[in-house]
Amino acid sequence: MRAPTVFIETFGCQMNEYDTELVRSILKNRGYGFTDAADTADIVLLNTCAIRENAHNKVYGHLGMLKHFKEEKGLVIGVLGCMAQNLKKDLLADGSPIDVLVGPDNYRSLPDLLDQAAAGRKGLAVDLSEYETYADIMPDRIEGVTAWIAVMRGCDNFCTFCVVPYTRGRERSRELDNVAREAEALAASGCKQVTLLGQNVNSYRDGTHDFADLLMAVAEVRGIERVRFTSPHPKDFPEKLLEAVASHPKICKHIHLPLQAGNDRILHLMARTYTRAEYRALVDRIRRLCPEIVLTTDIIAGFCSETEVEFADTYDLVKKVAFHSAYIFKYSERKNTIAARKFADNIPDAVKADRVTRLVELQRGISLKKNRELIGKTVEVLVEGESKRSSDQWMGRTDGNIVTVFSKTASDGLKPGSLTTARITDASATTLYAESI
Ligand code: SAH
Ligand code: SF4
Ligand code: F3S
Repeated sequence: MRAPTVFIETFGCQMNEYDTELVRSILKNRGYGFTDAADTADIVLLNTCAIRENAHNKVYGHLGMLKHFKEEKGLVIGVLGCMAQNLKKDLLADGSPIDVLVGPDNYRSLPDLLDQAAAGRKGLAVDLSEYETYADIMPDRIEGVTAWIAVMRGCDNFCTFCVVPYTRGRERSRELDNVAREAEALAASGCKQVTLLGQNVNSYRDGTHDFADLLMAVAEVRGIERVRFTSPHPKDFPEKLLEAVASHPKICKHIHLPLQAGNDRILHLMARTYTRAEYRALVDRIRRLCPEIVLTTDIIAGFCSETEVEFADTYDLVKKVAFHSAYIFKYSERKNTIAARKFADNIPDAVKADRVTRLVELQRGISLKKNRELIGKTVEVLVEGESKRSSDQWMGRTDGNIVTVFSKTASDGLKPGSLTTARITDASATTLYAESI
């Protein structure tokens, strides 16, 4: 009998991308094959995100389309990830096309559930675990220059707006040696850059080592040229970690430092555990230790009861800190979160949208200015591949994670994975244009 073929579509954050690689590995071991199109698959798996309402809507849209396929040719449909964990049985309600529902801590049971589904029995596994880290599973990756490694899972912070502690469960870390071995295997397969992942990555603790130890250990792996990490929480930046970032040549000078809001009452309602002044002091401390650092952030506009004056504090802080770039989101109420239970989602959608637009415009100007300041400077670029727009150009990133595009030359001898120096000649808000030197 031909092995069933699986198509997996991934939504959401890098952690989900990594989990899809784990799922591929688990299924491959059980003899499943893969395809890259839904219409040639026997099984379609959606690895889903629950962070905002539009993440849910995307998945509902896909399920609507897949329902037709299912009726035509008996496709098996599975929903994995955060939305599966969050909505559980709701997703299996009468008339639902879903056969299998598996949360982020239950991927080991996926093959058995798929076997059952092929025999006509729907099933689900949505038990959060305090221990599961999949440390013994080597993800099935598409070989390339860059790779993710999940070093910790879960989140204990319970920011009041956020669904992640409910979909991903409690914090748990892999052992340092185990992570280092994964990085060594990656280096052996040609990977040059590793990004250490966790919902709260700098809370990493394996009982003996902290996150700074882990970063240093991975940076010491021979063949790995760059180490990045995401996302840290501002509450956990001991001097030792900042010194590791500032001093180790292979640890990238980029910190994504989610701010969320710049007003103390809103920060308190969000349970972020820092004040505006503390956040600014952290930024100052980081910039003193590492002047070339690239800082990026996440912001939520229109959180419960946020007044225009309070929003102005966020606007003002974004201006003062001058991040290199920022992801700016409209607040989206998530079922069962503390905010959904305790506060009213009372900012009209149009007001939220207007606040997002104002912040996006402010940030665009800052990003453009910061990138233009780099014109004339020489930067090191890790080549990732050809630019999307033209096969005559290379695309890579600076140490600070800024996308850089430059023309190929007959004699440049570059290939994906090469580290090269380039001089910046022009810049937009999102991209540096350079010439190879
Ligand atoms: N663990 C990461 C972030 C995870 S989610 C961290 O703590 O930094 C990524 C971003 O989505 C968050 O930083 C936040 O800005 C945004 N986000 C989370 N929940 C949201 C919600 N309910 N509505 C709008 N944006 C949200
Ligand atoms: Fe969500 Fe806060 Fe945890 Fe980040 S730190 S995943 S925003 S609860
Ligand atoms: Fe989404 Fe889950 Fe990641 S909610 S952002 S896929 S942790």
